[in-house]
Amino acid sequence: MAYRTVPSRPELKDILPADFLHGYASAAYQVEGATSKDGRGPCNWDEFLKDYPDKGDDACRSYDLWQDDVKLLQQYGAKSYRFSISWSRVKPLGGKNDPVNEAGIQYYNNLINALVDAGIEPTVTLYHYDTPLALDERYRGFAASDPTELIDDFVAYAKLCFAKFGDRVKRWLTINEPWIFCSLGGEDGLVKGYTRQDFFRVGHNCLLVHGNVARVYHREFCQQRGQIGIALKNYDWVEPIDNSPEAIKAAQIAEERSLGWWAQPIFKGTQTTAWDHYGSTFPKLTNEELDLVFGSADFFSINHYGTMYATGRLIEPYTKTNFRDLDDVEKTHFKHGKPIGRRGENGHPHTVPWGFGKMLIHVWKTYAEPQNQSVYVYENGYSVEHEASFSLEDIINDQYRQEFYDLYIGALCDVVRNHGVKIAGYHCWSLLDNLEWNFGYKPRFGLTYVDRENGFKRIPKNSAMTVAAIWDHVVAKT
Ligand code: NOJ
Repeated sequence: MAYRTVPSRPELKDILPADFLHGYASAAYQVEGATSKDGRGPCNWDEFLKDYPDKGDDACRSYDLWQDDVKLLQQYGAKSYRFSISWSRVKPLGGKNDPVNEAGIQYYNNLINALVDAGIEPTVTLYHYDTPLALDERYRGFAASDPTELIDDFVAYAKLCFAKFGDRVKRWLTINEPWIFCSLGGEDGLVKGYTRQDFFRVGHNCLLVHGNVARVYHREFCQQRGQIGIALKNYDWVEPIDNSPEAIKAAQIAEERSLGWWAQPIFKGTQTTAWDHYGSTFPKLTNEELDLVFGSADFFSINHYGTMYATGRLIEPYTKTNFRDLDDVEKTHFKHGKPIGRRGENGHPHTVPWGFGKMLIHVWKTYAEPQNQSVYVYENGYSVEHEASFSLEDIINDQYRQEFYDLYIGALCDVVRNHGVKIAGYHCWSLLDNLEWNFGYKPRFGLTYVDRENGFKRIPKNSAMTVAAIWDHVVAKT
């Protein structure tokens, strides 16, 4: 059964320009597998998940089956594929003086060439949370108290990628979701002995790494005529539960702490005020660092999942380990006992298209428009609750994900139409039912079922067809 309301709305016909970049996203550790094949070095996640039943050893076997992935993207009519490079695949030990793994370079060259041949634009994330283990051991990776070595190593790795792939890759993302990355260390013990101070440090180091990489790209690789950005995310849209000044203030604080922490310095050139109450424990940017990061992103990139209500209460700093609460703002999915939307697996996310619309208007007005930039949604997705226990027929029919994308892309089109928001791209998360970091293969976010019992065969879900039919209606042909 197809759930498609957008294609039946004449007012949305051709509402998006012909060069609108729609596609799919993935991340190396979540899809590649082959964690010790062809010279790939170990990364932080190999170590962290070594005793978990679900780990990245196979993931979706995209290291071997990448051609199947490209075929899927073609079949889905994707114009763009966002994937990430595994740092430890191209530089097994990670450091600036450490050797390059040619087999790793070859793998990404093959993938990029096939995408370009298929008319699909590659967008490459340099860092989607996977640090070469050797660097974690040398200086605690992103939690380094002195980030000099981390910055040098990352810049050297980025330069290698620009030099090898930049003739064909015209759009780069430095770091994926610094907010979630900072939070993962705390929740899951990804970084040993992680403290609030580390949380601040990781966030701060993300800014410095991003700023330095962007500067090098702009200065040394400008002849490649590409663009660079950072995939930000807030958790996610926080709506005041009522009109009380407390709830309104709490929602604003949640935005400042999760998105504004990076977006304010990068897009406004101002120090974030989010953590002022921590005094000197929170590392401020020096004026030089502010100069470095301000204007470092060529486009505004956001990943979006859920929406929650802010109750108006602020909670005790760092007494809990749930990443959703690390902004110290109490949030809930319920108002007067009613859920905010259809619950996804583990509550992440709920289907709340109006929250997506409000978020888009907010980031456009606050960060993108003043810089004369467009907004790119580089991830948006839904994990259907209990999908793993559905019959294959229901998994493929994928009714709730069809509904999700119809509502969300509809909301995107509505804010373009009614509020003049400039959105240049949108990517479904994700192409495949991939490994969801420490949560394993459930929840699933993919628009393609991966049959692990039968050679990791890819089977398209109907949501992919729904999404293709929507783009066909709303994106102009010329
Ligand atoms: C955002 C992250 O970038 C991605 O790695 C993760 O799988 C999705 N959120 C879904 O949780």
